[in-house]
Amino acid sequence: MPVDMDKLVSLCKRRGFIFQSSEIYGGINGFWDYGPLGVELKKNIKDAWWHDMVRNPPAGPDGQEISMVGLDCAIIMNPKVWVASGHVGGFSDPMVDCLKCKRRFRADKVFLGAFFRLSEAESQAFSPSNHPFDVLITKGEVHRPSAPSPYPDNFLASRAPEFALSCEANGALEAQEHFAELAKALVKKRKLKGDYYGLESKSVNSALPNWQRSCPAEGCDGTLTEARSFNLMFKTYVGALQSEENVAYLRPETAQGIFANFKNVLDSSRVKLPFGIAQIGKAFRNEINPRNYTFRSREFEQMEIEFFCHPDESMKWYQYWRDVRKAWYTQLGIQSERLRPREQGKEELAHYSIGTTDIEYMFPFSDEPQELEGVAHRGAYDLTQHQTHSGKDMSYFDEELWAKADKTQFAGDRKAEQQAKWNAPYKFIPHVIEPSAGADRFTLAVLCEAYTEDTAPDENGKPQERVVMKFHPRLAPIKAAVFPLVNKDGMPEKAQALYRELKQEFAVFFDDKGAIGRRYRRQDEAGTPYCITIDGQTLQDETVTLRDRDSLKQERVKLAGVAEELRKRLRPR
Ligand code: GAP
Repeated sequence: MPVDMDKLVSLCKRRGFIFQSSEIYGGINGFWDYGPLGVELKKNIKDAWWHDMVRNPPAGPDGQEISMVGLDCAIIMNPKVWVASGHVGGFSDPMVDCLKCKRRFRADKVFLGAFFRLSEAESQAFSPSNHPFDVLITKGEVHRPSAPSPYPDNFLASRAPEFALSCEANGALEAQEHFAELAKALVKKRKLKGDYYGLESKSVNSALPNWQRSCPAEGCDGTLTEARSFNLMFKTYVGALQSEENVAYLRPETAQGIFANFKNVLDSSRVKLPFGIAQIGKAFRNEINPRNYTFRSREFEQMEIEFFCHPDESMKWYQYWRDVRKAWYTQLGIQSERLRPREQGKEELAHYSIGTTDIEYMFPFSDEPQELEGVAHRGAYDLTQHQTHSGKDMSYFDEELWAKADKTQFAGDRKAEQQAKWNAPYKFIPHVIEPSAGADRFTLAVLCEAYTEDTAPDENGKPQERVVMKFHPRLAPIKAAVFPLVNKDGMPEKAQALYRELKQEFAVFFDDKGAIGRRYRRQDEAGTPYCITIDGQTLQDETVTLRDRDSLKQERVKLAGVAEELRKRLRPR
């Protein structure tokens, strides 16, 4: 059963995971605050990433140790960085406005169709009743497929992220009369409210030049404008004057800080290719349509690695990072059937990318998996761009290879030797593989994955419905709660002493209020994996009960051994 998002959102507010930003003033769209439990959860996610990817990355494809260093760059950089990266010129979404209700939509989300042209061979292969599309329009005729579709899912994935109908080479114009009707049917079918699926407006505009675009808002029959581009970067001014030459941007990704510091890191840390530079930090995008809770926010945190390698080895590292990053999510409790690595189609690729695999998660608010992380092969694009725009050398010199080179071939010709030394294969611009994850997106996935409703016996053994957040113990905001069974007979003192000891090392919680069953329930909702109770037997034999949140099993462990037991259970595996 998919998680009910309304229930999850309400629990997140009630228990202090996530609040709407500036809620007392009516909030602000696309911005969120993390409450006391949420901040711990997100910090644990970032700490796990830093530990597992930066301090202790898994062995490389040939079993070799991986070299990885960290960085923490400023959010505001010289605006030339964003010219070089292509963000000033191209980081935009195509938008359309409704001329009547004045609402604005992302054009690629409004047009409910993915039109593409089938090759001659493909159009021969699809019969009107046997094709992989929601709808196939060919020569103006609408054909729905026989259900279920006999074609593999990845047929669709390899072409466009979502689609509704397709047209044969000459069918595009004939399709227009059917389009509005089909679009409405699809909205209904997919139970969409404000989010629509489709393809780039540019292709729609050119495929259907005369098509009257109607507003997708409920109850509005207005017409949409042609698509126009809006840059997603937040602008600000540095210094006293708000003039054009003082314009700066809040970074839309952390990656560029890494590229701009490539030489600094090379010169200061003696890393050798292949190696990675990692950074966790805030990024800002003026998303036109922030939606699905924190999924698409305007301020969010990224966890990015730029992994620099020799061009000849780049495909090997691309494969490696795709596997490593997918495995990381499963290790932290995301069920593998809800995770999908999806190779982007050529038409989806960002301008810099040779290939990108999105690691997607089946969020409950969508009927298609959505991107958690992108693993991109960026080739030499970024370093080359920064070299061109800054005039600084961004290449890597392979000292070891040069040391091994047979210098006798130059027969004492110093000029020829120098020329060879400063060119390939000794000196070159490395390729980059970039696993780029969203800390907030993963936090949301962890919350969705953890939310569980089940039954557990109360203190009288009667089954009671409970809400339990089944976080992986490494990610749980509170690791253990300590309870005295009753507030007498020296139990509170012993519980307090244990709490004070554990608190030096773990996020722990002390609770002596209310019936023990209620205290368990409160911790279940917070996702605390272990509850430790000091009871009558503790006073006799110095043991406590340790209750497991998921199995509800209670074991007796030595009071003096509780810290070690927690250490063992929380250790990264
Ligand atoms: N440096 C490459 C880059 O920024 P991206 O696919 O635009 O690539 C990487 O972003 C990750 O950042 C995404 O997979 C997602 O987890 C996160 N992200 C991007 N935009 C976001 C948004 N508006 N809200 C929350 N997370 C976002």
